[in-house]
Amino acid sequence: MGDVSGPVFDSVLDGVGATPLVRLRRIVPDGGAEVWVKTEWTNPGGSVKDRAALAMVLEAEQSGALRPDGVIVEGTSGNTGIGLAMVAAARGYRSIFVIPDRTTTEKVSLLRAYGAEVIKTPGLVPLEDPRHVKKLAATIARDTPGGWLADQYGNAANPDVHERTTGPEIWGQTAGRVTHLVAGIGTGGTITGTGRYLKRVGGVTVIGADPETSRYGGGDGSPYYVEAVGHYLHPLTGEDDWPAVYDTSLPDRIERIADGESLRTVRRLAREEGLLVGGSAGTAVAAALRLAASTGPDAVIVAVLPDSGRIYLSKYFDDGWLTTLGFLDAGTGPLVRDVLGPYEPGLLVADATTTVAELRSTLDRLDDPPSSVTVVQPRRTDATSWSVPDVLGSIRHDGLAGLVAGDRVGTCAGPPPATVGHGEDAVAVRARLSGLAPSDPVLVLVDGRAVTQVERSTLG
Ligand SMILES: Cc1ncc(COP(=O)(O)O)c(C=O)c1O
Repeated sequence: MGDVSGPVFDSVLDGVGATPLVRLRRIVPDGGAEVWVKTEWTNPGGSVKDRAALAMVLEAEQSGALRPDGVIVEGTSGNTGIGLAMVAAARGYRSIFVIPDRTTTEKVSLLRAYGAEVIKTPGLVPLEDPRHVKKLAATIARDTPGGWLADQYGNAANPDVHERTTGPEIWGQTAGRVTHLVAGIGTGGTITGTGRYLKRVGGVTVIGADPETSRYGGGDGSPYYVEAVGHYLHPLTGEDDWPAVYDTSLPDRIERIADGESLRTVRRLAREEGLLVGGSAGTAVAAALRLAASTGPDAVIVAVLPDSGRIYLSKYFDDGWLTTLGFLDAGTGPLVRDVLGPYEPGLLVADATTTVAELRSTLDRLDDPPSSVTVVQPRRTDATSWSVPDVLGSIRHDGLAGLVAGDRVGTCAGPPPATVGHGEDAVAVRARLSGLAPSDPVLVLVDGRAVTQVERSTLG
């Protein structure tokens, strides 16, 4: 608060970049490295993506791809859309965003607040489908007079702006002392551009912070709860399309961080450091803290924190949301796991392509078959825990006899089982599930993943 004057800008867009670097004081391990965070949510549109949005627009103006009366089009519900909508408003362009139909109303309202037009399309369709977010955005850009598709996944202006701005800022703000850069990977723009610069000028070690099941770090591609980073397989098609702008040779290493660790870190950042940031910032700081404990006191670690926690209040900062997913304990009464007692993690699953006959013979071979089997996305049937969106349904053992032997279980399963968090209050859970029959299946969640299946009556 020493300087009583702040920067003065001709346009809000001059406020993009030059974000403060803040040192973490209270959650860092004793005797470990210095950990600093790049406060990207202080950009005027609220995230790191303001940099890419502005750079892509300026580059397109210069190349003539975006004309003065042009229309900015992108397929995104996330921060890039908000950044582009802000840039469009400030520079007088019309903007159109194609978004998946399950996008939260807050995000739609944010885009509309900047005057953007929003077109909803089904989120779960294969890439070949003309309604696919990316396909439809490309079609609209092509068919709209003056239409220009920003294409953050393939646009070199996205990583380039980080090489020109984010990297040099971190180098300057640490007076060249930075030894490690930690960043999440969405499009890969941030880590590619920032990492490229810092490696070139200072031989800095670059670490990707990635959700545990994300494909980038070698996970199985099953869905996770931290938004906007990592890469999971398309839930229906298994499509595994990596962004062209992500230079996979850049990270020296990728730290894989489970949702539980990311979310507990994000809550600690708010409560112990006064930093209200989003889930991907929790992933980055969790990776930075692991690193700080192992590198010793001489390392200077900088983690890029992409956005604010304000748009995630109903998720990562909502105790009820966290508890029903098994991330947090209710703190009162006996909990679900107290009622369950010791159990072996793991549940019998059938992938959706299994035939009724195959499932019958599997169950016939078991001494004590469960009364129902959980039907999952074909992925890894050797897994001991399952991501909730991968649970497609449930099929009763006693109903199998009446089904056609050659049918796939994915087509004849009933709805997915109810779920409970292992730290939920057992009395509240019984009330919530009172409409179920005693033998109905219930999945128990630990850190957002199903670890066992029980009958409703087991919960008392
Ligand atoms: C919240 C958040 N975190 C991380 C990222 C990843 O950044 P990048 O696309 O540069 O890899 C994004 C990108 O949209 C984001 O919105």
